[in-house]
Amino acid sequence: MGIEAQEASKREVAEAAVREVDPNQPLALGSGSTVLWVARALAQRFATSPPPRLVVASRGVEEVCRQLSLPLTSLEEVQEFALMLDGADEVDPALDLIKGGGGALFREKILARMSRELLILVDATKRVPRLGARHPLPVEVVPFARPFVQRRMEALGLPSVVRSRPGSSQPFRTDNGNVILDAPLPAKPFDARELDRALHAIPGVVETGFFLGMATRVLVAGAPGRVEELARS
Ligand code: A5P
Repeated sequence: MGIEAQEASKREVAEAAVREVDPNQPLALGSGSTVLWVARALAQRFATSPPPRLVVASRGVEEVCRQLSLPLTSLEEVQEFALMLDGADEVDPALDLIKGGGGALFREKILARMSRELLILVDATKRVPRLGARHPLPVEVVPFARPFVQRRMEALGLPSVVRSRPGSSQPFRTDNGNVILDAPLPAKPFDARELDRALHAIPGVVETGFFLGMATRVLVAGAPGRVEELARS
């Protein structure tokens, strides 16, 4: 899929999701290019009526919401979300996800845990037969612990690379001041839940990009004008 077609798909699926938004409930937004389309679609749908209050998972999305005059609030004000809208890097047939390609996985996971419904928006390229088929697993790590965590991950069979800032050899830093280790997942079958537990047990690991059993529905943009809905069975 070319970049233009992919952007058109993201826009289409974002507009479909925004039609479901209840303006009277606070709304959680994740991060990434699909979420930016969600923000634009919200600004369009609520151009002449009050939009929902938003809590967002990254400074980048926050900035765009400000430019669009969308109202932002914080976790001080919200205890629970009825709905969170977010993208993903991979979606497997059980609707388990890999997220964190943009480095916002930690805040995304907090907001997702606070949401009764996590609606994931993707184009068809994000569907995979098994997690790790196309994307490494991002793991957010406290910088001090990075060498130790990397050795422990290697011992678990997960060699990793430190993510760099685009166009630079400097390490990428998350909005929380941490680094990201990108670890290709094994090609042979593995238990993602067990691996996630083992990663969380390493001191210095802040969060992983596994979002297991969390997505309630996934909207997939296919051919122009067609959005397919996948629901957790
Ligand atoms: C951000 O850290 C990620 O979890 C994004 O949700 C994911 O990378 C999808 O991004 P796009 O919407 O840009 O494809």
